[in-house]
Amino acid sequence: MTSGLLLAFEGADGVGKSLQALALAEWLQARGHVVTLLREPGGTEFGEKLRSLVLDASVTGHDACLEALLFSASRRRLVLEKIEPALGRGEIVLLDRSFLSTWVYQGCVGGLSLDFLDEVSRLVHGKAWPQRILLLDLPEEERQRRREVREEEEDGFESRGAAYLESIAEAFRQLQAAREDLVHRIDASGSPEVVLERILTDLADLIFEVDA
Ligand code: TYD
Repeated sequence: MTSGLLLAFEGADGVGKSLQALALAEWLQARGHVVTLLREPGGTEFGEKLRSLVLDASVTGHDACLEALLFSASRRRLVLEKIEPALGRGEIVLLDRSFLSTWVYQGCVGGLSLDFLDEVSRLVHGKAWPQRILLLDLPEEERQRRREVREEEEDGFESRGAAYLESIAEAFRQLQAAREDLVHRIDASGSPEVVLERILTDLADLIFEVDA
């Protein structure tokens, strides 16, 4: 019986988080692991409702405090309904975004206290704390180029402009440097296959533990 593994993918918009989370899930599943892949905000019926409220570009008037509370509420529901049960079954849980996004978007950039957000995150996660967060990071030019070729409609956050998104990417880098124990930087440039190789190299110690 294994004790489960909780990992999160993070990074500014357009770095390929969702693609790599899916690629890792498939890689692990092909090797016999049971994997649950969840996105934030969302991942539960309750969370998806909050997601549409908080990301709808036409809904204005949210401040960083309200956003942090909504994202945290969605996250708490995810912990209770999906993460804790999956970890209890010894599964691997992969998160597409996590509380680190709240620390960056609503904390470093939105102005809320990081100590306060850290405390909220610990309350929300309880014992289901991630073993590692992988920060996918791209040089600014490459990140913008990738965003331009994406055809998706922008959400309320992405529509805040290039300078905003650049400050987000920089805040992720600063938090990674401050929390190297938890957050590892992955160079997200190159082909998806090359990036997945880097991710697997980084996770070699943790995936071995799950196999043991
Ligand atoms: P997401 O759907 O992951 O966007 P993308 O696929 O474009 O990366 O997340 C939606 C937006 O929500 C994203 O711009 C970041 C923002 N966000 C926060 O501001 N705080 C949070 O805690 C989370 C989870 C997301």
